[in-house]
Amino acid sequence: MDLAAVILAAGKGTRMNSKLPKVLHPVCGSPMLSYVIDAVTGAGVSKIVVVAGYGAELVSREVEGKAELVIQAEQLGTAHALSQAGPCFKDFSGSLLVLCGDTPLIEAETLVELVERHRNTGVAATVLTAEVADPAGYGRVIRDGQGQISKIVEQKDASPAEILVREVNSGIYCFDAAGLFDVLKQITPANAQGEYYLTDVISIYAGCGQGVRPVVIKNPREFSGINDRIQLAGAEQYLRSRVLEDLMRAGVTIVDPNSTFVSRKASVGRDTVLYPFTFVEGDTIVGEDCSIGPGSRLIDAIVGNGVVIQNSIIIKSCIGDNCSVGPFAYLRPETRLGQGVKVGDFVEIKKSLIGDGSKVPHLSYVGDATIGEKVNIGAGTITCNYDGENKWPTIIGDGAFIGSNTNLIAPVEVGRKAVTGAGSTITKNIPSGALGIERAKQVMVKHWSGRKKDSKN
Ligand code: UD1
Ligand code: CA
Repeated sequence: MDLAAVILAAGKGTRMNSKLPKVLHPVCGSPMLSYVIDAVTGAGVSKIVVVAGYGAELVSREVEGKAELVIQAEQLGTAHALSQAGPCFKDFSGSLLVLCGDTPLIEAETLVELVERHRNTGVAATVLTAEVADPAGYGRVIRDGQGQISKIVEQKDASPAEILVREVNSGIYCFDAAGLFDVLKQITPANAQGEYYLTDVISIYAGCGQGVRPVVIKNPREFSGINDRIQLAGAEQYLRSRVLEDLMRAGVTIVDPNSTFVSRKASVGRDTVLYPFTFVEGDTIVGEDCSIGPGSRLIDAIVGNGVVIQNSIIIKSCIGDNCSVGPFAYLRPETRLGQGVKVGDFVEIKKSLIGDGSKVPHLSYVGDATIGEKVNIGAGTITCNYDGENKWPTIIGDGAFIGSNTNLIAPVEVGRKAVTGAGSTITKNIPSGALGIERAKQVMVKHWSGRKKDSKN
């Protein structure tokens, strides 16, 4: 039988106090909505509809290619939100999962179980519920004598006795799509918040003898909704430890999980060690046997095997096997290091290719350069790649030796095994094997220190 999902995500999320729609706030580097989309995809849905409202344009960019979007122009309540998706399900008579976009911790397996239980019992609606220690803020699940659900009351509408109920509504449901959108039409906003409550579907079904079943979730954490930035930080912490535990089980050493941050999309190879205060962000891929950190940030980077990175920032760059980077290096986008390259302290590299075995050990700026193999770049060397209007390339051949404090005024080319004299400002190409030196003759002023002393007296 067919399975589809509707994700309610039109709310502004007032308590986030943000310009960004709530469901786009990131958790471990990905918007919370993307987790919900992944969970329903993992549960095997054939179609996903996202109901957007506040910031719909931004939401539509996020779901593009993954889900259909419908707009709820005014946020009149969860029932009203779901009814906006009605036209997408005119010819659909399978099971329909309904979830909120602000519950990123939900797992696909839990949804699979919900759908299975729903189908096995043959009822019109099944609600994922949980017993929690503190039910504050959630709708309370009121059961009848047979263990079925007779209604769900929102906290603001609950009687003193109902407030005490500790079984709460997760906001995650499985419905038979057939008839559901007609039932939604019967819902009125006659309640404390003046909203069209989706939870009223439950009492309508129960009232006409259609059983509504609960499925009690094992780990209530999975549906904790995120309403403010405190809960956002809580979800971040929970998901982060899940990501780190998966990595540790897969053979990665994480010296201090409390100060290590790895995005959900990143991958790290076996026997790599992550030292404290290290951030592995975006789609970063780190190979095996690396030592990363302390104090490093990798954003969308590709790192080979056996690489050492200390106190450095690497953005959209590719680092070959057995390279050593840092301490205090800054690799900017489109940098590619071959194998066994050393980039040392206080070195910035931008959009450059550095060949196997080459070294940029200290205090350099290398931009728009193509550097061959086994090149040594002396301390303080700068590629002067920008003339105020355009960026120009520097090319350095295999085995060249760039003396300390060389200024390479681009566009310029240094041939294979060529050498530059320390302190030179190189403006002309240097042929292979030649020495390029540009240095004023040293002047000697005799008895200089004596003269200084004399003038003081
Ligand atoms: C809802 C449930 C409550 C449940 C809780 C679980 C109702 C009436 N109550 O309450 O029983 O315990 O979720 O987290 O359903 N939304 C729209 N359009 C709207 C209103 C809301 O798309 O007009 C979306 C929001 O963006 C959000 C979700 O629906 O993703 C839930 O809305 P929210 O206002 O957070 O509902 P709760 O008060 O948390
Ligand atoms: Ca909520």
